[in-house]
Amino acid sequence: MHEDERAPYDPMPHGPPEVGLGPWQGPWPEGDQWDADLLRDGDRRNVVDRYRYWTLASIVADLDTRRHGFHVAIENWQHDFNIGTIVRTANAFLAAEVHIVGNRRWNRRGAMVTDRYQHVRHHPDAAALASYLRSLDEPVRLLGIDNLPGSLHLETMELPQRVCFLFGQEGPGLSESAREVCDGTFSIAQFGSTRSINASSAAAIAMHSWVRAYADLAGDDAWRG
Ligand SMILES: C[S@@+](CC[C@H](N)C(=O)[O-])C[C@H]1O[C@@H](n2cnc3c(N)ncnc32)[C@H](O)[C@@H]1O
Repeated sequence: MHEDERAPYDPMPHGPPEVGLGPWQGPWPEGDQWDADLLRDGDRRNVVDRYRYWTLASIVADLDTRRHGFHVAIENWQHDFNIGTIVRTANAFLAAEVHIVGNRRWNRRGAMVTDRYQHVRHHPDAAALASYLRSLDEPVRLLGIDNLPGSLHLETMELPQRVCFLFGQEGPGLSESAREVCDGTFSIAQFGSTRSINASSAAAIAMHSWVRAYADLAGDDAWRG
């Protein structure tokens, strides 16, 4: 689907029709964050309740004040269908940024329009991603996540607070050139017969290990529905 074919207020494509709220009842609130169209027509977007009727720009600005210290990156040489779901999970866990390495075009379907609230940055190759992360005011460690020979255990490592998890694609896994620029590779322990798990499942596990280590789970920002 092209950007301009999307519904104007990005309703959940598969959710129940009653998601969100109808037109604002009573006198309209004052403030720059309110979106006049949403107040008038209702807000059926896939957003948490605290952002109902807010403009997209106001939501992104608010998220920017409290983004987490982890980044997520995925190689995109074959239009991997996992990228959309990784973007959605990165939104849910409030990643600093999402990086796409390789082709600029990616399948947005699984993102459920969550990419609009995320900073998605493109890099021609993994070396460019690595130099970008190292150029930041507070450099970010780049960890390759793949079950390769020699990978250390994600479960028992001490995660850096500022980190970027880099994932490979279904099939080839992390490319050789990506491995070369990582500050180490780390695997998720498996116990069954399959060689690997799905890349977006691996990404969710890695992101959540950061959440368990560093996120403020007691504050109002930890949304549980
Ligand atoms: C389907 S796997 C790729 C192939 C995999 N290396 C193999 O030997 O079958 C796709 C991506 O998912 C992630 N992944 C899958 N299983 C993983 C695991 N157990 N530990 C870490 N990453 C994993 C990695 O980023 C990997 O590049």
